Amino acid sequence: MASFDPAVAPDLTGEELKTLDGLTSQLEQMGRERGRLIPMLQLVQDTLAYLPPLAIRLVADHLEITASEVYGVATFYNQFRFTPPGRHPIKVCLGTACHVKGGEIILENFERKLQIKDGQTTADREFSIDRVACVGCCALAPVAIVGETLYGKMQPSKVEGIVLKIRIEKEQQERETRPHEPSPPTPLPPASE
Ligand code: FES
Repeated sequence: MASFDPAVAPDLTGEELKTLDGLTSQLEQMGRERGRLIPMLQLVQDTLAYLPPLAIRLVADHLEITASEVYGVATFYNQFRFTPPGRHPIKVCLGTACHVKGGEIILENFERKLQIKDGQTTADREFSIDRVACVGCCALAPVAIVGETLYGKMQPSKVEGIVLKIRIEKEQQERETRPHEPSPPTPLPPASE
């Protein structure tokens, strides 16, 4: 089994590298026919939730084709993403009703607040932003979904508060799980003569 050096893909977590190690044997079992390219990409995406460059190279080497051929096919399909989803994925609906009610402005506000664009993920992997088609509750337009929470009749002014709330919750969690630091020793009273 191949073992990946973290230096070859510093953007991947140790866990992801380990998962990719495991994928090599699964690819082996799928054979080497080019027609298997899409199922292979689906396997990687189902396992890692996105297609990192190292995985693209792995599939390309396995099928003995170039990485750009693999990219060419993968980018053709909407189902594949090339950045890791954030721990709090933000989906902004831009279906017709949401578009008419200002969905683009909601999207721009999230992009500005997080300093990333639609389709990207923040460096700490906390947030990702994606535009999506109608999510089926047009009466609540414009709609944004952050993690598991759906925000209907969304307003640009709410963006700041949503992001801040998530950051504060994360800080609280970290504080609670951090081991208690030992308190410094009490200084001894000066020795009497
Ligand atoms: S268009 Fe956004 S929920 Fe239907």
